[in-house]
Amino acid sequence: ARAGGSRPRRRRPRRVLMFPLPFQGHINPMLQLGDALHARGLAVTVLHARLNAPDPARHPEFRFVPVPDGVPAHVAARGNVIDIIEAMNAAMEADGSGPVRAVLESVVADVEQPPAACIVFDANLLAVPRAASAVGLRTLVLRTASAACLGCFMAYPMLHQKGYLPPQESDLYMPVKELPPLRVRDLFYSTWSDHKKMRDLLARANEAMENSSGVVINTLDALEKPELERIREQLHVPIVLAPGPLHKLCSSKSTSSHSTLDHQDHSCIRWLDKQPSESVLYVSFGSLASLDSDEFSEVAWGLANSGHPFLWVVRADSVRGSDGPAALPDGFEAAVHGRGKVIRWAPQQEVLAHPAVGGFWTHSGWNSTLESVSEGVPMMCRPQFADQMMNARYVVDTWGVGLELEGELQRGGVEMAIRKLMKGRDGEEMRGRAKELKKIVADCLEARGTSQVATDKLVNYILSL
Ligand code: UDX
Repeated sequence: ARAGGSRPRRRRPRRVLMFPLPFQGHINPMLQLGDALHARGLAVTVLHARLNAPDPARHPEFRFVPVPDGVPAHVAARGNVIDIIEAMNAAMEADGSGPVRAVLESVVADVEQPPAACIVFDANLLAVPRAASAVGLRTLVLRTASAACLGCFMAYPMLHQKGYLPPQESDLYMPVKELPPLRVRDLFYSTWSDHKKMRDLLARANEAMENSSGVVINTLDALEKPELERIREQLHVPIVLAPGPLHKLCSSKSTSSHSTLDHQDHSCIRWLDKQPSESVLYVSFGSLASLDSDEFSEVAWGLANSGHPFLWVVRADSVRGSDGPAALPDGFEAAVHGRGKVIRWAPQQEVLAHPAVGGFWTHSGWNSTLESVSEGVPMMCRPQFADQMMNARYVVDTWGVGLELEGELQRGGVEMAIRKLMKGRDGEEMRGRAKELKKIVADCLEARGTSQVATDKLVNYILSL
């Protein structure tokens, strides 16, 4: 003890390791959580695959350490998420999770950094728990999808037992009464062709989560209260926290995108500045979803014929099977006549926060959904795979802030749906509810709001490990 009185005891600084899956929709929320933890005094080291590696220059406050991911070039090029995860797991789990263990050993041994408290990882990275336990590290799981999605995964054994899964074509629109508002079609599983592979991966990811020291979900109590309550009741881990939406929580100046996957086109903000308030439909199908060439053409003509201003993100790989960048149909630009803007990649959060944007045609990825809800923008949902169908279900049925465009993509249907969302009475009501929801989300982010309290709890918990 020091002579002459005691000073308040300061807790020694600690470090958190993080390891996301190598996809935009997973890297972004992990780094956003890293930002929030760093802002509260924790050091952050990010382990990452070589595939889609994040850009360290955007995060000078983090350390970045590559892990050999073992994804063959032809698998990476095909871009099938499940195949990539499978290849990573096969390589990383080899030799008792040796490749990951070796990296963790050297990271943990770095005495220039504060001692590591735990590793926050994506539960699909099956090699992590064993490697972490070999070096004496506790694990926390970050769920980058909704609480409803997690609840659905946890319910898979029941869904099989009751015959909802594997799904039958004739049952796709049957309600799953145990998981309202979901229908069989929305259960994620139904869209993957290799059911057994999917079921095995989910079972092992659930096991990794159940054996972890805690689970963090990128959602908030105000959006998914019953879903979170059910998870907390059923999941026997010490702590389940919902500090989302993480993109609004983090302190970083570069909240909108963290990876090297994209180059945001900021010219669209200047274009939006010239458009009337709430007049523009923003159209983007995230980082993975694509269309075939006929669908692409129907979308283009639906937008052109709607008469509404639009900002459309067309990625280089937006059209399946095309060699080069997607070509807009002949006559499209003349028909649109400056009323629309097409770009390769948007600063999406800035776009959604812009007063000129009045609607979002989305593929209903969870990040896009949270970003739209946070800015009070009603949605036109066109989900394709994974958790997208269930996200759309919540947007339409639970929160009432959007409509779903179902069936074959045809220009007439697109045009009608756009008009309904942007001009119709239904659209007006959705916009009103979206604004209310925006306020509810903002309250959660206030100093004593549930998301801030959850983040404080998480930091204290990490410091106690
Ligand atoms: C994937 C799955 O498709 C999705 O279902 C799952 O919930 C997460 O993983 P992705 O397709 O990338 O995600 O969609 P989403 O979750 O919406 O994430 C896309 C991210 O890219 C968002 O953070 C969005 O802001 C960003 N983005 C998208 C841009 O910054 N610019 C764009 O032009 C488009």
